[in-house]
Amino acid sequence: MIVSPSLLSADFANLARDVEMLNESDADWLHCDVMDGVFVPNISFGFPVIEAVAKTASIPLDVHLMIVNPQNYVGQVRDCGAAIMNVHQEACVHLHRTVQAIKAAGMKAAVTLNPATPIVMLEDIIGDLDMVLLMSVNPGFGGQKFIPRTLHKIRELREMIDAAGTDTLIEVDGGVNVNNAPLLAEAGADVLVAGSAVFSAPDPKAIIRSLAAL
Ligand code: DX5
Ligand code: ZN
Repeated sequence: MIVSPSLLSADFANLARDVEMLNESDADWLHCDVMDGVFVPNISFGFPVIEAVAKTASIPLDVHLMIVNPQNYVGQVRDCGAAIMNVHQEACVHLHRTVQAIKAAGMKAAVTLNPATPIVMLEDIIGDLDMVLLMSVNPGFGGQKFIPRTLHKIRELREMIDAAGTDTLIEVDGGVNVNNAPLLAEAGADVLVAGSAVFSAPDPKAIIRSLAAL
């Protein structure tokens, strides 16, 4: 399993320390949640923080934009060091164009779906996507409860990807913990994001290790 711990639950007064801990752990990527207070009812951090984190991180940055008009920030996201740019389907009127722009900028293109958005919305673009991020909580906050219906969506997305014959990854974000992670792996998830499950644990590296072993 690819593990992408979420920086949202890190100690913002000690970001370098927490990023160094992740560098030394089995974490594969570092998930960075950007919120604008418009697309979601919360504000987190922006590009200067990601740029600073990129200087310390030795693992690729998986940037999840919970913002309106994400197509306006492709260059900035690339310049601050992102390897993967996640945009919400619900935020993009011209999703195909935005995905092509992300790839042309040299990043992996990922599209995120909110819990109420059906998988079928990606049917005509699945072959262009490096990854689909399924939200298993309503975006905006860490520490929320996993929505069980996500398991069904993972299976449905796996079928769509197999039918299209692409190698698109399935990432799951929200309420992921060591108890539900085996179910997510079994349903077909390739990448797990975990914020509070990692950072509120007494031994974050042990949690990451157990997720990575799935
Ligand atoms: C929620 C963010 C998540 C968040 C997950 O809107 O997209 O990445 O950090 O946090 P947990 O794992 O605590 O649900
Ligand atoms: Zn996220």
